[in-house]
Amino acid sequence: MIAIGCDHGGLGLKNEILKHLTEKGVEVKDFGVDSRDSCDYPDIAKPVCEAIKSGECESGILVCGTGIGMSIAANKIKGIRAAHVTDTFSARMAREHNNAHIICLGERITGGALALDIVDSFYCAKFLGGNHARRIEKIAELEK
Ligand code: RB5
Repeated sequence: MIAIGCDHGGLGLKNEILKHLTEKGVEVKDFGVDSRDSCDYPDIAKPVCEAIKSGECESGILVCGTGIGMSIAANKIKGIRAAHVTDTFSARMAREHNNAHIICLGERITGGALALDIVDSFYCAKFLGGNHARRIEKIAELEK
């Protein structure tokens, strides 16, 4: 199960990604929001991160206007690695090297077609382990 969430600035792109994944048969849990009314992105980042930490969801996608606010908020949650991505190479690396739990996208930055390619690049990639695992362990040490 993939968690997805957005603020008012990311609603349109979130809905495109949700449709794309659902049509591919991927199970997605939508944590909102569902309107363009102004809201605060940390309020959506938090439950998405908690669903990943609890094991309910294996990973997540957060969308706001730029992707920046969502990534800053998600990375404040202990144990969560969120990557702000605007290209397919970074999306693949976020998984292969950083084993990111979440990718963050910006509706005002990245067009729909590219965003869907970014999502596919992230989900087609696999964590490579090895030296990268050691570096991730060191990130966890930084949280202590
Ligand atoms: C909302 O206007 C906007 O600030 C938010 O969507 C996001 O881009 C913040 O990083």
